[in-house]
Amino acid sequence: MTVRLLSPTSEAIDEAARILAEGGLVALPTETVYGLAADAANPDAVARLYAAKGRPSFNPLIAHVASLHQAQRIGRFTPGASALAEAFWPGPLTLVVDLVSEQHICALARAGLDSVALRVPAHPVAQAVISRLGRPIVAPSANLSGRISPTRATHVVADLAERLDLVIDGGRCEAGLESTIIAAAGAYPQLLRPGPVAADAIEAVWPGLRTTQDNPAAPRSPGQLLRHYAPRARLRLNATEPAPGEAYLGFGPTGGASNLSPTGNLEQAASRLFDLLRLLDKTYDRIAVAPIPFGGLGDAINDRLRRAAKTDE
Ligand code: TXA
Ligand code: MG
Repeated sequence: MTVRLLSPTSEAIDEAARILAEGGLVALPTETVYGLAADAANPDAVARLYAAKGRPSFNPLIAHVASLHQAQRIGRFTPGASALAEAFWPGPLTLVVDLVSEQHICALARAGLDSVALRVPAHPVAQAVISRLGRPIVAPSANLSGRISPTRATHVVADLAERLDLVIDGGRCEAGLESTIIAAAGAYPQLLRPGPVAADAIEAVWPGLRTTQDNPAAPRSPGQLLRHYAPRARLRLNATEPAPGEAYLGFGPTGGASNLSPTGNLEQAASRLFDLLRLLDKTYDRIAVAPIPFGGLGDAINDRLRRAAKTDE
């Protein structure tokens, strides 16, 4: 038996909401990567989700909600957090705030923390499923824990196959990298995971952005402590050319055939990164990756590459 795949019709949205309401798991497209959705209020469904991904249950999930209004009934929004939400929602930004009501987000989804990660996705399919269900969904990336996040429905099927009830195929994800995560409960915003909303864009709305590097004692995103985004192949970063036997993942005009962006466009590179890594990983044991400039989206791309290159201790 293989998993059911549906195009994003209104019947498919209804079916997804019905499965979620009954405690099932549905993979759906967002503007960042595919998410594996479960009803955030249902601990049995959330337990199934952790098991399907092979994810440690001390790593909390992001609650995806329909609006800032819905988010404000779950978490406490400081003026800074509200400003970020108003500027970037719906969109690829996750805000970690203090929990005010656990009515819709079960403790297992939060890994028992008294904070909660919230995001309003921009993708019409994710939006429609949340609205149809009428309550928040949790949606970690729809890959096996520790592996590369999926940017196409075929990636989801390759990783999770029969461990879920339905996949809605919405084509390729536009951003291709997971949302930026900001801890927004304190006096200053703190960057927990770089992503499509760049640090300077955050800084322009709520100045004083801390990065975890600035303050190693600060609480971190638990998921960031693990080896993440890992292909099977060994990665060599900042390689200007491949060594014998290595595949080459290029960037820019001299980057060769497997190229993140022949024109050196960082948005294009971000949207192609996980797809090309998965492709090369099928055939090669070693992948050399071209240098990617820092700044803007380059920070998020370099963050994912650094994690992917980390070998098991
Ligand atoms: O773009 C995205 O955010 C995708 C799509 C599907 O929406 N989702 C995603 O979820 O990347 P996931 O579960 O793969 O990553 C969630 C991250 C983890 O690093 C987790 O540790 C962090 O969010 N997180 C969740 N709740 C937290 C909390 N209360 N405090 C700190 N970090 C938290
Ligand atoms: Mg993930």
